[in-house]
Amino acid sequence: MPIIYHEKSRVFHLTNEYVSYILYVMENDQLENLYYGKRIHDREDFSYLHETTWRSQMTLSMPDPSNLSLHYVRQEYPFFGSGDYRSPAGEILQADGSRVSDFKFRSYKIFAGKPALQGLPATYVESEDEAETLEITLTDEVSGTDLTLSYTLFRDYPVITRHSRFTQNGEKPVTLLKALSASVEFLDMDYEMLQLSGAWGRERHPHTRRLERGIQAIQGLAGTTGGAEQNPFIALMRPGTTEKSGEVYGFSLVYSGNHLEQVEVSTFDMTRVLLGINPQNFAWKLCRGESFTTPEAVLVYSDEGLGGMSRTYHDLYRTRLARGEWRDKARPILLNNWEGTYFDFNEEKLLAMAGKAKELGVELFVLDDGWFGKRNDDTSGLGDWFCNLEKIPSGIDGLSRKMEEIGLKFGLWVELEMVNKDSDLYRAHPDWMIQAPGRYHCQARHQHVLDFSRQEVVDHIHDMIAKILAASKISYVKWDMNRYMTAAFSQDLPADRQGEMMHRYILGVYSLYERLIREFPHILFESCASGGARFDPGMLYYAPQAWTSDDTDAYERCRIQYGTSFVYPLSMMGAHVSAVPNHQLGRTTPLSTRGNVAMFGTFGYELDVLKMTEEELAVVREQILRMKKYREMIQTDSDFYRLLDPYKGNETGWICVSKDKRSALALYCQTLNRVNESWIRFKLDGLCGDVSYTVRYSIGEEIREYPAWGDELMRIGIPVKRNDLSAMGGDFVSILYELQAE
Ligand code: DGJ
Repeated sequence: MPIIYHEKSRVFHLTNEYVSYILYVMENDQLENLYYGKRIHDREDFSYLHETTWRSQMTLSMPDPSNLSLHYVRQEYPFFGSGDYRSPAGEILQADGSRVSDFKFRSYKIFAGKPALQGLPATYVESEDEAETLEITLTDEVSGTDLTLSYTLFRDYPVITRHSRFTQNGEKPVTLLKALSASVEFLDMDYEMLQLSGAWGRERHPHTRRLERGIQAIQGLAGTTGGAEQNPFIALMRPGTTEKSGEVYGFSLVYSGNHLEQVEVSTFDMTRVLLGINPQNFAWKLCRGESFTTPEAVLVYSDEGLGGMSRTYHDLYRTRLARGEWRDKARPILLNNWEGTYFDFNEEKLLAMAGKAKELGVELFVLDDGWFGKRNDDTSGLGDWFCNLEKIPSGIDGLSRKMEEIGLKFGLWVELEMVNKDSDLYRAHPDWMIQAPGRYHCQARHQHVLDFSRQEVVDHIHDMIAKILAASKISYVKWDMNRYMTAAFSQDLPADRQGEMMHRYILGVYSLYERLIREFPHILFESCASGGARFDPGMLYYAPQAWTSDDTDAYERCRIQYGTSFVYPLSMMGAHVSAVPNHQLGRTTPLSTRGNVAMFGTFGYELDVLKMTEEELAVVREQILRMKKYREMIQTDSDFYRLLDPYKGNETGWICVSKDKRSALALYCQTLNRVNESWIRFKLDGLCGDVSYTVRYSIGEEIREYPAWGDELMRIGIPVKRNDLSAMGGDFVSILYELQAE
């Protein structure tokens, strides 16, 4: 039994082969965490780990002589007003204005499997024996509010998922001012905190800092996972942790709205991690009989360093968060017209590009922005989801059929949550956009956000887009979202519910996704938001892949994809080869490197194939053939190891090893060329030491091959010759090593 309750000692032990998580119902009936980390043996009574001691100025939570003060306790879900002066996980405003609460243990349930979270994305199981769930219900007597803390322990992973559910049973309503998903506490502060931060074009760069006493936090307040700035993830790791060794605790939030990940270290060196919906601009009213469920937090423990943590997230998210027909399938190789044409295209041009793409081996043509309404630039058209027949006389229906005749699948770009003021939709429904009365309507890219907290808005958009999808041969949809939310206010909500708007908005987005994926199960959805501004686990539940970044420069992509891989699987990472000089930063990198880097994701091209030389087209043909050979392994059946960190040196290195360790693909990429420097040994990882592999790679036109044992490749490494790097052009060159067991 992975979840055990010791009734006499009132101790819960969640344990599998990898982790232990131990909870204790204290003498005041509140919950304390006694241990979270590597699996330990079970025993009848762990309560000796519950320590109280008299301290000067302490606030007692029970009458003397208990010495129980919540300020010094690792609470499972702390609340305001308890004598604990650190940040709480929950705060409820009651009818009399009080924010004080005291949730006491009432009951628990342990059962096989994992229930879905209504209306919210969450990890799942396919059979009941894959996981076990513990639900502990606590009650605040005075307000009549119940809180159910939910824990699922996966059988085969070092993973515990958590969420919380508030239910109002009292006569009078309460308002949740803070309702986080989880609080996790550690007894000391000897950790570093890892976060994935950035901005447009440089998303999810890893940053690490040593914990300090006080609060350190990341957050998103833009209504879309916080945009590209802060990904909803942090990890705590022991100093000295590497890719291969050291203890790491990962905290990832399955949510696409405003979020908070906060670490507070008390002056007693206790470390409290809080994560969930950002309480800023949040307030949720609960009347008698109503419930509120928080998003899911996914806790991963690794004692095999950051690499171990990442591989757990990859496997779990790829197979038990992503859903649908495309989850386990190799993804189509696509050509997207955005950087090739921007808004300047017509049907003839698209078909010419598609014809050439087909010759090269491309499988899917994606028509990006500009096909609808009167959209010839970014000032108009959003909201008018019908084809611009001046540009595409055959309509989307006709064009999609012509694509099929060419032998390509067809995909379409949409930005369903937005409206331009210059659109029929806005003219008909000016009150559908998010705007605070009497305030300036901030615009970004000439567009405004539709109020997806309103059912009628979601229904209307659904009907428009479903009509096109039903009438045409569409097998892929790129769902973009190009501006953040401001002046969050809904024309539809009463004053005392305006604090619900931003969460209701994202629930509206999720509900539209859910409807569309149910109605069109064959369509592969890709989420996108000005590049990678909505690259989060919540989206993965609906769209198995996401556009990683608008920055398609090969070197920048090494960094972005390296950072993204800390949490997200390669099957989620949209990666395209684009033209040079690169449109984002003007850099020229070799076509071979652009292709090699893009292979470690969902592969495609984003350029005008009609402008490529014969020599370039030959390279593209080869790249596509190679990707077809390896994509199944890369996207559905491999483990990923980061080898050389582009943030620390002049090289990027990583390897994808098939689950059976019979084949692998490794990338070595150098940033700037160096003359007369020291030796390079590229050490691989994840292989089977006792297997002999054929190592195949090319230097320009020359193909080389040699046999080597797995242990040789991991301990000695591949000698990379500086002369070869110079011969290939020096700066930004790369070598792709194909390994096959002999
Ligand atoms: C932002 C996306 O990231 C791009 O790929 C492209 O789809 C544009 N939007 C179109 O407006």
